[in-house]
Amino acid sequence: MRFSFIAVSLGVLFGASAQADDDVYPVVSDPLTASACGECHMAFQPQMLPARSWKAIMQGLDNHFGEDATVDTMAVSKIESYLVANAGDVGWDNEILRGVSSSSTPLRISELPKWIDEHDEELPANVWSRADVGSKANCRACHRAADKGYYDDD
Ligand code: HEC
Ligand code: HEC
Repeated sequence: MRFSFIAVSLGVLFGASAQADDDVYPVVSDPLTASACGECHMAFQPQMLPARSWKAIMQGLDNHFGEDATVDTMAVSKIESYLVANAGDVGWDNEILRGVSSSSTPLRISELPKWIDEHDEELPANVWSRADVGSKANCRACHRAADKGYYDDD
């Protein structure tokens, strides 16, 4: 009884700290997703949004943040499967999704409460309009190795 309690506690501790310390997101490993979703911006790691968000994004590619990002039906279904299978609420206790209500479907990583906290604390409000940044979605302006999954670098 006592041992199993300790084992469970350690498991929880290790699980939690492994995620919190590393801040390394897996590299986007599906070549189709990497190319189709990396054309206009970096291909964002699927772990950064819940599955329902990726579904919504993939169903709305004809008006994707004001742009036409359509791909053929076959590609939509392949990309969606990859994103959903690796989403932040699927087998991954992702800190960045803390505070997201299960009834909301965020379409932007940069609008997640935890993302906003992390960035508001450290950065002046006018940083986003700086010429070398331009947008909150331009992760690589500050996280040089964002496409390799590293965000804990500055
Ligand atoms: C034709 C260009 C284009 C393609 C292709 C494209 N996107 Fe985008 N995407 C955009 C634009 C423009 C924005 C808004 C960027 C901004 O706010 O600066 C955006 C933003 C996003 C965001 C929100 C970023 C944030 O603010 O957190 C996500 C998530 C996203 N795209 C996912 C995808 C996925 C998944 C694919 C592949 C199916 C894809 N995009 C393909 C143009 C594109
Ligand atoms: C203007 C610069 C800037 C941009 C653009 C930016 N970030 Fe950040 N980000 C920071 C800073 C500064 C921090 C806090 C310091 C740190 O932890 O590295 C941070 C922290 C983070 C963290 C937490 C890392 C940790 O240490 O726990 C994540 C995850 C993250 N950013 C993801 C993103 C993503 C995803 C994007 C694009 C959608 C993005 N950031 C865009 C500057 C930026």
